[in-house]
Amino acid sequence: MFHTILEHRLQNAVATVLPGAETTSVLVRPAADPKFGDYQTNALMALARDRKINPRQLAADVVARLDVADLCHPVEIAGPGFLNFRILPAALSRVLGEALRGNHLFFEPSPHPRTVVVDFSSPNVAKPMHVGHIRSTILGDCLARVLRLLGHRVITDNHIGDWGTQFGLLLVGWKSLLDREALERDAIAELERLYRAVNARADQDPSVREEARAELVRLQSGDAANLAIWAEMIRLSKVHFEGVYTRLGVTFDHTLGESFYNPWLRPVVDALVDGGIARESEGAIAIFSDRSGPPKEDPFLIQRDGEWTDNPALVLKSDGGFNYTTTDLATLDYRIRTWAPSEIVYVTDGRQQLHFQQVFAAFRRWKPRDAASVRLAHVWFGSILGDDGKPFKTRSGETVKLGALLDEAEERALAVVREKRPDLAEAAQREIARVVGLGSVKYQDLLPNRQSDYVFSWDKMLALQGNTAPYLQYQYTRAAKVVRDGDFEPASGMGISPVEPAELALARHLVNFGNVLVSVTEEYRPNYLCNYLYELAGYFSGFYEACPVLKSEGAVRSSRLGLCELTARVLGQGLSCLGIEVTAQM
Ligand code: ARG
Repeated sequence: MFHTILEHRLQNAVATVLPGAETTSVLVRPAADPKFGDYQTNALMALARDRKINPRQLAADVVARLDVADLCHPVEIAGPGFLNFRILPAALSRVLGEALRGNHLFFEPSPHPRTVVVDFSSPNVAKPMHVGHIRSTILGDCLARVLRLLGHRVITDNHIGDWGTQFGLLLVGWKSLLDREALERDAIAELERLYRAVNARADQDPSVREEARAELVRLQSGDAANLAIWAEMIRLSKVHFEGVYTRLGVTFDHTLGESFYNPWLRPVVDALVDGGIARESEGAIAIFSDRSGPPKEDPFLIQRDGEWTDNPALVLKSDGGFNYTTTDLATLDYRIRTWAPSEIVYVTDGRQQLHFQQVFAAFRRWKPRDAASVRLAHVWFGSILGDDGKPFKTRSGETVKLGALLDEAEERALAVVREKRPDLAEAAQREIARVVGLGSVKYQDLLPNRQSDYVFSWDKMLALQGNTAPYLQYQYTRAAKVVRDGDFEPASGMGISPVEPAELALARHLVNFGNVLVSVTEEYRPNYLCNYLYELAGYFSGFYEACPVLKSEGAVRSSRLGLCELTARVLGQGLSCLGIEVTAQM
């Protein structure tokens, strides 16, 4: 909240002192150490360096033009030219009061709303969703939620894999081995069984693989019978996906799978060839480096034995099939034409880094003007590991299915709730277990830096102490309960005036909520929000221990109740950004 106002005024002051200076890089950040005040900027030093002027002199000139007396104590020039800002208690009270009256929750809609496409989850059809899909689904959903909250126009698109080579084998299986009853009972399991059975046969008997290839070609050239079977497999898969998404509270504006782009694949390849971006190579067509930039940054080159050699991306295989790259180029082109986004975010695992580097680079060469109008971001993540440090598997070595994983989370949470709250009715226990169980799985996934691998641990994620969902959910119920017990009326007109150190620490942290939301969207890192909420819960606990709320009186009591109310709101809103629900009691 404060940092944007300070930033704005500081930029104006800089513009008066240094007419024509680029002020967008003049940023104010919460101070790393309270010793230096509440907010800080180091931007003047860079400006002074560029102009070869004395940084402390520049700082003094800027401070002379900076009018922030309504917000801060006199601005302090520190070290080689930092500015330190210390918020006045009255200004803090004012902002807390506005929030309490519902004017804002320490953030404002972005003054520059962007159109952002978020491509996430995107599982492949005819296979069960497994634990590997959870990261894309949860991360992508969280980014979409935060962007929306900040007033951006968000378009979520589930780019399901519905046109792969797996359909050749599946068609053979469907035609020769289908068990209708099993399909009725559990469609995805039956499709999986068909795929495995035919794949095993094909390993033994090359003619089965041939047959699968022929079925695929028939499908791709529009054979009505094959298309009908294919459409049925997609329908069944979507029902399965939808079940998981409903449970997770995840929604999509569009589910335009790979097959949607079929009509544009040929034209894309032709355009790439005409533009000299792709060329024939060993019967296929591929994109090669144009050698225009440093080899280190060129995704179409790779270093082998100290030499830079070609690392092309296929767009048309020698058998006439198109590739993942072709589809993604057509998809990118479609999205820009259709939605004119200023940003497209792809959430997938880290193994697809080269793929997206190639797609983005090829697109820049193909459509430089479109490419210049959009920020393309591959938001990638690491793996989920088991205790043994290897990819997380079931005891028998199978991939863990998402549905079963969520069931287990709820069951384990239910065991804890039954033990801690035997007084509650079964339905209430189950509801808490659902919210805590799903919340735990999500939070464990969002908390680590997304690029690192993490070890899946039931005990850790469900712990009531530590940086976990249950801990944050519990702190929420505590804050909300105090507000209820105190019969607090946020609209009563009573203000919040933090005085005690624990009150001030909590208040200063609350007002930075918006700042954290923005940084989540700038770097696509939900872990910033997790850590902010964890710290908030810590400040709240400290405050609650040091400052009696219900036992105090008059203005002090209502001020403290106000802090509890705002804590509950920020915790609730923050968790909701993470896709995590809360309950009234735990
Ligand atoms: N279906 C792909 C997979 O399971 C992810 C698709 C990601 N999105 C995209 N536009 N390539 O790995």
